Formats: sequence, C-alpha cells, structure tokens
Amino acid sequence: MLIELLQQRRSTRQFKTDKITSEQLEQLTEALLRAPTSRGRNPWHFVVVDDPQLLSQLSKAKAHGAEFLAKAPLAVAICADSAVSDVWVEDCAIAAIILQLTAESLGLGSCWAQMRLRSDANGHSAEANVREILNLPMGWNVDCIIGIGQPVQRLAGHPRASLPDGKIHRNRLPK
Ligand SMILES: Cc1cc2nc3c(=O)[nH]c(=O)nc-3n(C[C@H](O)[C@H](O)[C@H](O)COP(=O)(O)O)c2cc1C
Repeated sequence: MLIELLQQRRSTRQFKTDKITSEQLEQLTEALLRAPTSRGRNPWHFVVVDDPQLLSQLSKAKAHGAEFLAKAPLAVAICADSAVSDVWVEDCAIAAIILQLTAESLGLGSCWAQMRLRSDANGHSAEANVREILNLPMGWNVDCIIGIGQPVQRLAGHPRASLPDGKIHRNRLPK
C-alpha cells in the first residue's frame, strides 16, 4: 500500500557504500519514464551519475544542502528542455517524487537536492554549475538532483499526530 510507504518515508542523507544493482537501476529508470507529463510532452532528461568524481563535483554545485551527494552511490539529475514545455518544472517535480518513492519501495533511501533558483558560495547559478559538470546542452534546465542509496540509518516516519491537519480545508474557507 502506498500509504504505508508514505507513513514510513523520510529523507536519507547518509548512505552505505553498497552500489545500486543493475536490477534496481532498471526499476528506477523505468519508474522515471512512466512519470506523467503535461500533454505527454516528456520535456525531461534524466542523467544517472555513479562516477565518484562527478558526484563530488555535484555536491558543491550549490552553497548548502547538496553535500550528501558526495557519498551517494547514485544520483539522478532531473533536467528538462524548457522549450518543449512551459510546465517543465511540474513535470520534473513529479518525476523526482516518483523516483524517490520507487527508491523507497526498493528498500533504498533518497534525498532531493534543489538546484533550480539556487547558487554556489560565489553566487554562481547552481543550474549552470551542473550544466558544466555534466556537459548538458545550454537549453536544458536542472530542477534538482536526487541522491539514492542504502540508508546508514532509517529515521522513523513522522507520527500521525505531528502532521499539520490545519492545512486541510473543506469546501470554502471562512471569510
Ligand atoms: C522541493 C524540495 C527541495 C529540497 N531541497 C533539499 C536540498 O537542497 N537539500 C536537502 O538536504 N534536502 C532538500 N529537501 C528535502 C527536505 O528538506 C525534506 O523533505 C524535509 O525537510 C522533510 O523531511 P523528510 O523528507 O525527512 O520528511 C528538499 C525537498 C523538496 C520537496
């Protein structure tokens, strides 16, 4: 049941050194390609990275919050040709969460590293840094990079009572 997966899901930023198997990679990439997109335009491109040197470079593409990529056995850069769809951001975000939930369903952990609208310690665009590190064409935007691997430690899911029930509204909001 998906709800059980969601009840247990947490972001994972520390990974064991175990490699992702080819069977796991096949399932992760199939899940990505099954992500729905607006008008079926599939503006995205997914760059699967397991080269430790590239992972180290990607971990420094922005100033904070991408350090965990350096020791992830696998990272997937979620990119898109923004000329193909005006809603590429939404399409990328959907693909990213599908990737994360598929990883979770395979017993793996993952974490999102935001790249779009972020910059490095010198104020350079994180997206431009990723484009350079991975040799991406100029027209491609980079939404985020998802780091994936075996979790060192499994954090407990958020307790039901801690969820912000006040965010759910019925019919109209009161005036
Ligand atoms: C759009 C988005 C951007 C995020 N960016 C980062 C990031 O750059 N670095 C990071 O370590 N975590 C990032 N996260 C993970 C969140 O910090 C995490 O999901 C949130 O704190 C809740 O924790 P949980 O996933 O363990 O429930 C991002 C999550 C989302 C959805």
